Amino acid sequence: MAWCLGGFRAPRVSGPPYPRPPRLRVLREADLGKVFISKPALVTSSPRARRLKFRPPPGPGLTGRDRVGTDVAKLATPEVKTKEKADIGDLPGVGPATAEKLREAGYRDLLSIAVAAPGELAEVADLGEAVAMKVINAARQLADVGGFETGDVIMERRAQVGKLTTGSKALDELLGGGVETQSITEFYGEFGSGKTQIMHQLAVNVQRPKDDGGLEGHVVIIDTENTFRPERITQMAEALDLDAKEVLTRIHVARAFNSHHQMLLVEKATELAREYPVRLLVIDSLTAHFRAEYVGRATLANRQGKLNTFMHDCLRFGDLNNAAIAVTNQVHAKPDAFFGDPTRPVGGHVVGHTATFRLYLRKSKGGRRIARLIDSPHLPEGEAVINVIEDGIRD
Ligand SMILES: Nc1ncnc2c1ncn2[C@@H]1O[C@H](COP(=O)(O)OP(=O)(O)OP(=O)(O)O)[C@@H](O)[C@H]1O
Ligand SMILES: [Mg+2]
Repeated sequence: MAWCLGGFRAPRVSGPPYPRPPRLRVLREADLGKVFISKPALVTSSPRARRLKFRPPPGPGLTGRDRVGTDVAKLATPEVKTKEKADIGDLPGVGPATAEKLREAGYRDLLSIAVAAPGELAEVADLGEAVAMKVINAARQLADVGGFETGDVIMERRAQVGKLTTGSKALDELLGGGVETQSITEFYGEFGSGKTQIMHQLAVNVQRPKDDGGLEGHVVIIDTENTFRPERITQMAEALDLDAKEVLTRIHVARAFNSHHQMLLVEKATELAREYPVRLLVIDSLTAHFRAEYVGRATLANRQGKLNTFMHDCLRFGDLNNAAIAVTNQVHAKPDAFFGDPTRPVGGHVVGHTATFRLYLRKSKGGRRIARLIDSPHLPEGEAVINVIEDGIRD
């Protein structure tokens, strides 16, 4: 009896049934297939050899003679984590400390690392760029990056998309029927332009029946500026002949104290959505904390990375719950703009590309506001005039 690289050599028919090998050898995965189908085993007339060939590898508590089978069984179910179970900490080159830094920076799953830029990852986790590249490559192999879908499947999902009325017909028309579910709609503009008012109105409208432009659902509001006012909800609800108290019970508000907290609250919202039919997620404001906490050029990559993660978490929430995501954003002056409006929304390309619809709100005469649709995947640019009155948002 001897060992050979290609697998086991079969026992001699006349010899002892299956003598114990001199030493157990660690097999590579590549060897596995060969173990049970090594040629001599197939032709042998030994009943034991034939049994070995077809029998599944035995479990624990075996006799000495079964030792070979036992080891094969161990190798057949290696202790490597499956793709579904793998976590950031399982990536080569990522120790517990690095994993913690990554999680703190908002990289919570393999996909977020798989799509990260090497420079960004190197910075937040104190890694060299070469190591960061290796980590990203490993994450790409383990992460479920998703597959392709055919147009008809996407069309089917699009058929589920609901539209939530803003309270203004003109604004609804500009948005192609209202604020869409499974998308992020961003409202940006200077202070007092009516962003928070629109968020309050949406929180009331989402509870209304579908025939009235609602989604018959609850709303989660992540309030970063402490501007949620139940009194305002009461005014708007009463204007629509709704029971204000009941309306308030379907609004779940959380104050976010900093950007980190803001990110955690989306996870909480996901938990809440298991209990209630949440059809609207409001973030008012999306960028205020990020803007205040990350000052200066050096922190830009970090800020944009986190903002990106946050927005994608929101999008995932929208997809999972068929909910609309409405976010507000501030503007900053762009001093080098010689022509046109010098104000720009905060958050740069990350927010610009992730928000599906962008609306720019401007104050106009007599309490009117002009909403301009800046970016949409299937609607033309255009403007609508809305009024912010005591009853809420109207034409
Ligand atoms: N009860 C009300 N009745 C009529 N108009 C109101 C009422 N409450 C607020 N407004 C209008 O809404 C404006 C405030 O708008 P809003 O709070 O939505 O601003 P914003 O865009 O969120 O600003 P910021 O960037 O400071 O958060 C007020 O200036 C006022 O014109
Ligand atoms: Mg506001």
